[in-house]
Amino acid sequence: MIRTAVAGDRAQVLALYRLVATIPDGIARTPEEVSEDYVDGFMRRAGADGIELVWEEGGRIVGEIHASCPGIAALAHLLTDLTIAVAPDVQRRGIGRALFQALLDQVVESMPHIHRVELFARVSNQKARSLYQSLGFVEEGRLRARVNNSHGIAEDDTLMGWLRPAAGLPAISPTPKDTA
Ligand SMILES: CC(C)(COP(=O)(O)OP(=O)(O)OC[C@H]1O[C@@H](n2cnc3c(N)ncnc32)[C@H](O)[C@@H]1OP(=O)(O)O)[C@@H](O)C(=O)NCCC(=O)NCCS
Repeated sequence: MIRTAVAGDRAQVLALYRLVATIPDGIARTPEEVSEDYVDGFMRRAGADGIELVWEEGGRIVGEIHASCPGIAALAHLLTDLTIAVAPDVQRRGIGRALFQALLDQVVESMPHIHRVELFARVSNQKARSLYQSLGFVEEGRLRARVNNSHGIAEDDTLMGWLRPAAGLPAISPTPKDTA
């Protein structure tokens, strides 16, 4: 079952991220770096001006996704700080796709001011990148040697972006009528 996260989910979200962080080369943090402050921070930002969804099964949170607005007017149309995590024992069951699709559906239906969603994924995280591409994200650039992998080698990070379908931002280029 997918639902919006609540403050009472904090302990389970923390445990989920610590577990997922044990998988090499997924999320950027090690289990030790998944601190209470880290989880409190993204839950607070997503709760204040963003989205946080969890997948719950029998009272256990086995998947989570969050994203939030950067908090400045120039970027008010943007959701960033996006991370998704699914517990290793339930991966490949469609939970990641369902959570991410639910986030994008919520953006389309309930957040008309959001026109862009962006994220970073390391080049070697092929499973995450294929998921994002299948949801409409486009690779927009590579940040060279940005993120260390589990072998201590710096690999490229990819910046991926999704734009709201059809609506888009107000046109800033002159229209043919303007230029006539
Ligand atoms: C990435 C992640 C969220 C995917 O969650 P999931 O529930 O396993 O994904 P799903 O079962 O919904 O699969 C969705 C798509 O992901 C891709 N995918 C998932 N696992 C994959 C694998 N082992 N190999 C290749 N592609 C894979 C496929 O494109 C798949 O689509 P398909 O089922 O149509 O083939 C999950 O693997 C995870 O939590 N990984 C660790 C944390 C992480 O890397 N987070 C992203 C940081 S950028």
